[in-house]
Amino acid sequence: MSFTLAHLSDIHLGPLPRPRSTDLIGKRMLGFINWQRRRRQYSRIFLDRLMTDLAAQRPDHIAITGDLVNIALPAEFLAARAWLETIGSPETVSVVPGNHDAYVRLRRDPGHRAWDPYMQSNWESAGLIFQPEDGFPFVRRFGEIAIVGLSSAVPTMPLMASGRIGKRQLATMGLALDALREEQACRVILVHHPPLPGMSPWKSALHDARATQGRFIQHGAELVLHGHAHRDSLTPLVTPHGPLFVVGVASASSGFRHLGRVARYNLFTFLKTNTGWRIHMRSRSFGEDGQPVETDHGLLGADALA
Ligand SMILES: [Fe+2]
Repeated sequence: MSFTLAHLSDIHLGPLPRPRSTDLIGKRMLGFINWQRRRRQYSRIFLDRLMTDLAAQRPDHIAITGDLVNIALPAEFLAARAWLETIGSPETVSVVPGNHDAYVRLRRDPGHRAWDPYMQSNWESAGLIFQPEDGFPFVRRFGEIAIVGLSSAVPTMPLMASGRIGKRQLATMGLALDALREEQACRVILVHHPPLPGMSPWKSALHDARATQGRFIQHGAELVLHGHAHRDSLTPLVTPHGPLFVVGVASASSGFRHLGRVARYNLFTFLKTNTGWRIHMRSRSFGEDGQPVETDHGLLGADALA
């Protein structure tokens, strides 16, 4: 049996709906000015091209690790929901929120609840954990493959892009990871912020990264997928349960061709062997001529830790 998971992140969906003047209060005003400066970093054309390529690859499932919107306008959440529906059903797409998706609290809810069907445990994982009222973590099982979705998205002060998972969520994640290990499932964790200490500057870091790393080591997992840094990265972590690979991906809307940071996504294929799970990784993007380009990273394995 093989299962292929596509991972993309930091969609920053455009164009931005025209904000009303009453929308631009507090953090949104600074965010709007910032977005005006940075919007050329993102290309809707590149994003659409990437999604056409992704659909042709026919992955078994798609994981999106946050920042679907820019400054948390109510209309952005609805546009993002409509965009998600063009990619796939909630059964075939999993989402966790990013800091831009919890930029401000929208009255009683953070806005990204419009994406709830994409952020819920599925029936196959029923009985594994009790999904908390605020929604995280959720667990989705697809046979022997399990996705654990975390939220690191918390509203912050202006000019901050930090995140926090929190003790309760980490403890529940630990229970889920233990139960899944018992069943020899392949455990894939989704989180927006780079989850290990030292991976981001303080203003944009996960502020409980040390506790998060401790939980990863204590309970083990096979793969952690994240975004936020808008860069490709691969960080192996040794745990008593085997190697864990922490993989970040560039923004799926990135238009920075000259910096080598053009829009891309990764594909992971999971293979069960006598000695545990092996993970084959590929990246897909496109060249100057607009034609798809694939980079085969081969098997992630113990040799990557040497
Ligand atoms: Fe982010």
